[in-house]
Parts: sequence; structure tokens; C-alpha cells
Amino acid sequence: MEERKYPFEKITTHLITSGFVYPSSEIYGGLSNTWDYGPLGDACKNKLKKIWRDHFVKTKMNMFEIDPAIIMNPKVWVATGHVANFHDPLVDCKHCHARFRADKLIKDQKPELDTDGMTTEQMDTLIQSGEIKCPECGENHFTPLRQFQMMFKTFIGVDENEASVAYLRPETAQGLFVNFKNVQRTQRAKLPFGICDIGKAFRNEITPGNFTFRTREFEQMEIEFFFKPGEDQQWFSYWKDECLSFVNKIGLKMDYLRFRDHEPTELAFYSKGTTDIEYYFPTLGWGELMGIASRTDYDLGRHQASSSQDLTYLDPETNQRYLPHVVEPSFGCDRLLLALLCDAYDEEEVKGETRIVLRLHKNLAPYQIAILPLSNKLNDEAQKALWPLLSPVFDSIFDTTGSIGKRYRREDAIGTPYCLTYDFDSSKDASVTVRDRDSMVQERVKIADLKAYLATKFAE
Ligand code: GAP
Repeated sequence: MEERKYPFEKITTHLITSGFVYPSSEIYGGLSNTWDYGPLGDACKNKLKKIWRDHFVKTKMNMFEIDPAIIMNPKVWVATGHVANFHDPLVDCKHCHARFRADKLIKDQKPELDTDGMTTEQMDTLIQSGEIKCPECGENHFTPLRQFQMMFKTFIGVDENEASVAYLRPETAQGLFVNFKNVQRTQRAKLPFGICDIGKAFRNEITPGNFTFRTREFEQMEIEFFFKPGEDQQWFSYWKDECLSFVNKIGLKMDYLRFRDHEPTELAFYSKGTTDIEYYFPTLGWGELMGIASRTDYDLGRHQASSSQDLTYLDPETNQRYLPHVVEPSFGCDRLLLALLCDAYDEEEVKGETRIVLRLHKNLAPYQIAILPLSNKLNDEAQKALWPLLSPVFDSIFDTTGSIGKRYRREDAIGTPYCLTYDFDSSKDASVTVRDRDSMVQERVKIADLKAYLATKFAE
């Protein structure tokens, strides 16, 4: 794959300086790899979530969105195996004290080896053999490999002891499984049906980084789709198609996307298949955006065994009881947003100057329209004529700072699809000039027609 036109750092610098993302708690020196979304990033992320909801929930007759708690009964995480197994293998360089994920260290230096299939002992033996070098200092003296629990621990109530330990959820999915029976019963749901949510997940990643690509706190958009055992292949294919159609809908460039089917050796013993959608990030290369996993009845089975509750479904057609099987499409919201912003960033020469333009999908841009009075003398008039008319319908910004050329550039750089300029003729011909972000073509439109005109543009 060819290197992307604009380096990752150039894009992330632009996102920070224009108000999409800020370093978290910056006035205190920040917190490493922790980011806050600014007004533009927050608006854009909310729109991404809305399109996800429209695509996967609103237009589906058999999908139920819920909002489960972040701190759940810790028995949930024992049942799923997270307490015992949700670890990352960790080593430190004894020479320069840099810390690494052992599997990544091996993968980077010996790509021919399948680290997913290696045991802790095998990885440790290889690292201690001297064949692996520290990427920071070049030495090959590492501490013994140790497993590092990735779930964030906290305590419930006043006592901080083993009995009061609880965890911040490392994935939202388990809140969906443990509510299977509640949703099925209260919503009179018949198979096949799905339960989904959008919410925060937390992982104490050893090597977070690359801006919002890997953070310790992130948002997931997850679905558990339940069906009759035996229909696994059919629903796996269905959800692969649905996910592809969603990433198409939000305008991700197909050139930089690929489906990666997990090898049989990568699959958990219960899994009937997993596919990742990967994106080719500038500078970073291929990275996972989401996964679609065919998980059989493994999760419901674990919860049924651990809770001693009957989680089976009574099939109204056959009168048989069984545990449904499940396919899980799981998107990372922050990663998807980052991919969209990387895709959208563009530069071009206009009249000897560089114009930055964020070619975001029109329905993802933080603002749909910018209202720009040509001169400060027109501010009140423009505001009265346009703001009450348009702001209830379109996400709008009213910008009066700087020359009109500078304001156009500013709006281009944050992806605003249309700028509406109110000039000295506007009160006479009851019209404004509408400028298109991508083509920069300008058109005179009657104020009375603006709502319909813009509605058509956003429906295109
Ligand atoms: N329930 C399945 C599950 O959690 P996962 O592959 O671990 O699967 C799903 O996570 C998605 O969540 C990933 O494809 C990625 O987009 C996102 N994700 C996972 N860890 C992340 C992190 N540390 N920072 C940002 N996004 C993350």
C-alpha cells in the first residue's frame, strides 16, 4: 500500500489546533494518552453515533438499544474469564527501562511468528534467548515476562478490600448478554433479535498511543445479535454486509479498507469465525476499526452456569428450549472517527495559497452551515434574518471575525459544507450567497427558499 498523502501527525496537529480534540487536563500538564473532545470533535462524534443508530437500530425491526451500567457485579467478569485471562504480556528493558507488550515486540521483529498461538512461556523463552532487541536502546536484556491485568479496579463502598473490589467494564458487550432475558421478556422479543448499546469501556493498556487510536478510556458501539443455533453462517455473512454498508454510508474510502478474516489458530475454541474491518491509517498503517465475531452460545452459557439462572429461550414454533447463538458486530467509536478525519483531511493550492479542507461527509461535519455577514455593519441584520430561521433546523455557526476569505478558509478547514454570506444587497434582494465547501462554487439563493434548498443538499 502506498504511503498516504498527509502524515498522521500533520492531521492530528490540525485536529488539536482547530478544536476537535484537546490533550486532557492540559492546564495540569495533561495525562499521557488521554484526550478530550472539543466542540467540533464532540459534535462530529455525536453525528457518527446518530448514523450508527439510524443504520443499526432505528431502521431495524428487531433491535433493542439499552444503556447498561459501567460498574457491574464483579461476578460478571469472573464468569467471562476476564478476571483470569484479560492480561497483556509485559516486559521491561533492564538497560533503558522502556516497557513493551511482549507479543508486539516479537511481532515487530519476527513477523513470521504467530504470537497469538504462543504461550506465555514460549514468548518469554524467545525474549530471554537474546534474539529480540529493545527498540529503544538495542540491548537484549529484558525482565521476565509477566501478565498485566488490563481491567481497571475500583472499590465499592467505604472498605477497600478484596470483598469490595469491582471493575470498570473493559467492553460494553457483557451488559448486553446479562440483560438478554430482561429484554426478551419485557419486549416480547422473538428470535432473531439484537441488543445493542453505545458506551464507554476502560482498559489499562500498557502501550496506549497514536492519538485516539488506542486509549485507556474509549467508546464502543456494540451489538449482540441472537438467533437459533445452526443459523450462524447466515447471520455472520449478514452482519459483515451490514457493517460494510455502514462504513460505505459514512463515506470511508474503500481503497483504505479491508476485511481480515482471523486464521483458525487465532480463533477462540468456541468461535465459528471472526472478521475485522481494518483501515490503512496515514503513517501508522493497517489498524483494526471493528470486529464481527460469531460466538455461538459461549457467553450466555457462561452466564447461565455462573449465575444459576435459566437463560434459555422457549421457541414458540417448536416448543423447544435452547440457548441462542450470537454474532457480535463491535465498533470502536473513537477509532472510526479518527479514520474518518484522516480520510477527510486534504490540502490544495488556491491562488498561490494552501487551502486545508476537511472533506467530511456532509452529515458528519460539526457544523452544517456557517452564517457570515460580509461586514460587521451587517451583523445584527444578518443575525435577525438568518439565525432564528436556520439554527433550529441546521447545525449553524455565526462567525464575524476576520475577512470573508479568512472565514471561508476557517470553515473549509473544519469541514463546514456550506457558507452563507449576507452582504449589502441581501436586504434588497432578500437573498444570500451560498458557497460550496468542495467546489467553492457560489450561488445566490432567496432567503425564503434557503430551508428547502439546504434540505435538498443534505439529503443528496
Ligand atoms: N466485545 C468485543 C470487543 O470488545 P475488541 O476487539 O476488544 O472487541 C472492539 O474491541 C473495538 O473497540 C475495536 O475494534 C476497537 O475499534 C475498539 N477498541 C478496543 N480497544 C481500544 C482502545 N484501547 N482504544 C480505542 N479503541 C479501542
